[in-house]
Amino acid sequence: MELALTLDARSDKSLQAQIFDQVRLLILDGRLQAGMSLPPTRLLAERYQVSRNTVIIAFDRLAAEGYVEPRGTSGLFVTAIPPDDLLLVSSPRPPLRTNGPVPPEAGEPLLCFAGSPGGGEDRPTIDFWVGRQAASGFPLRVWRRIVTKLLSGESQYLADYCDPAGLPQLRRAIADHLGRTRGMHVTTDQIIVTAGGQDALNLVMNLLRGHTENLCIENPCYAGASMIFQSENLPIEPVPVDSEGIRTDCLPNKPRSLIYVTPSHQYPTGVVMTLSRRLALLRWAGDTDSYIMEDDYDSDFRYDGPPLTALSGLDRGRRVFYIGTFSKSVGAGLRLGFAVVPQIFSEEARLLKAKMSNGQSWLEQCALAEFVSDGHFDRHVRKLRQLYKSRRDALISALRKKFREPVITGQDSGLHLVWRLPKGMPSALAIQTKARAAGVGVYALSSGGAFDFDGTAPDDTLMFGYASLPENKILEAVEKLNGIMREMSLKAPAPRSHESALENGSR
Ligand SMILES: Cc1ncc(COP(=O)(O)O)c(C=O)c1O
Repeated sequence: MELALTLDARSDKSLQAQIFDQVRLLILDGRLQAGMSLPPTRLLAERYQVSRNTVIIAFDRLAAEGYVEPRGTSGLFVTAIPPDDLLLVSSPRPPLRTNGPVPPEAGEPLLCFAGSPGGGEDRPTIDFWVGRQAASGFPLRVWRRIVTKLLSGESQYLADYCDPAGLPQLRRAIADHLGRTRGMHVTTDQIIVTAGGQDALNLVMNLLRGHTENLCIENPCYAGASMIFQSENLPIEPVPVDSEGIRTDCLPNKPRSLIYVTPSHQYPTGVVMTLSRRLALLRWAGDTDSYIMEDDYDSDFRYDGPPLTALSGLDRGRRVFYIGTFSKSVGAGLRLGFAVVPQIFSEEARLLKAKMSNGQSWLEQCALAEFVSDGHFDRHVRKLRQLYKSRRDALISALRKKFREPVITGQDSGLHLVWRLPKGMPSALAIQTKARAAGVGVYALSSGGAFDFDGTAPDDTLMFGYASLPENKILEAVEKLNGIMREMSLKAPAPRSHESALENGSR
């Protein structure tokens, strides 16, 4: 099978990204059809005079995202994607919207999520604080240098207002970053810089309120998003999540909905939404004249495999509002994030941001723009990715050593993973309480910034934020946890089967 690619060695985009993007589009356009094989990597490399490794990396990424699949030793074959889904992403269909969103009424201020499980200053000594990054990982030296340089320049920028949508150089840097790492092709005017992801969620909610008759949210979900939705006077439909992401077969057939999803690392379960679910979700949004909030809060940290294309990168129907944050990659204290809105909403979004807060601080935005455009951001994230990967590996191997075959999910990316406790174990909340008394912070979903709309799911899931803990502390904590759970299981009334899930390693 011959592939017609146009590769440009002088482009800012790497050759592997060019191959990935172009083959992906050939599949989505239906020009490469289900069952067709990709050419051998060696042949493609020779034909385009690139290294074989470049082609292998691009093909691995296509396989990781579900566009192609291996069949024995015969190579990679295009997966079956329903023709309707292909139509949706290949031919731009403008939204059905006829009236612009009604400007938000001056009403209740929306709530903000504190994001600190357990809250307060009284933190456990070894704390698997969900979503917290390593304080020592903050790029203090470079940041100080950039800020000092900015402060030694002229004071005009500090004295003046800047564009409410954000500093142009920061928005440009964000657009480049999204193009390189998330397969998103966006213009700077689509980007609105916000005070973190939470502010971006609020911005999108305010922007779409007038269009929205129904709210949908993955369940369980991020508490910060549920708080925003719950403060709206609209019906909420929680949609269950399974091992492929949100259950698109459970989406309501209601027009003008707004749905919140975390496709790259579902919060809290950590599941990655499969390609077929992504396409089904986009199709549903087109069919019901609905919009999607894609919260991509932590996918800078993907440990096993290439970066994932955002749902927004697949969206040709202008249905997806993408939410990003620098809270995980640089520092939550900066309070910087952004929303990427479909082009037709960019001016409305800018005006809304002006109305809400009239933009973010010039100093932080300018420092971040330099940090990204001078290449520090990429280096910094690469370094942290290595650090967090070792911490994650230490946690997984300690859990495997101490507890027989623990069911762990969400470990491929982000700053946390979850452990589904086996049947017969004490509840996650009971373990959390005991562990806390022993100086170890592990979190049941309800304390880890997650929310369950049904409230009926078994309390059998513990969340571990591992990024801020050195490996020796992780090992010490798991050792303690094993002792605590052993003691709890011995005290529990018979018959209990959880003893079987505990290893004897700590005795
Ligand atoms: C799922 C999810 N979305 C969004 C955020 C937003 O974070 P911030 O407002 O700090 O950018 C967080 C923070 O932990 C999160 O876990």
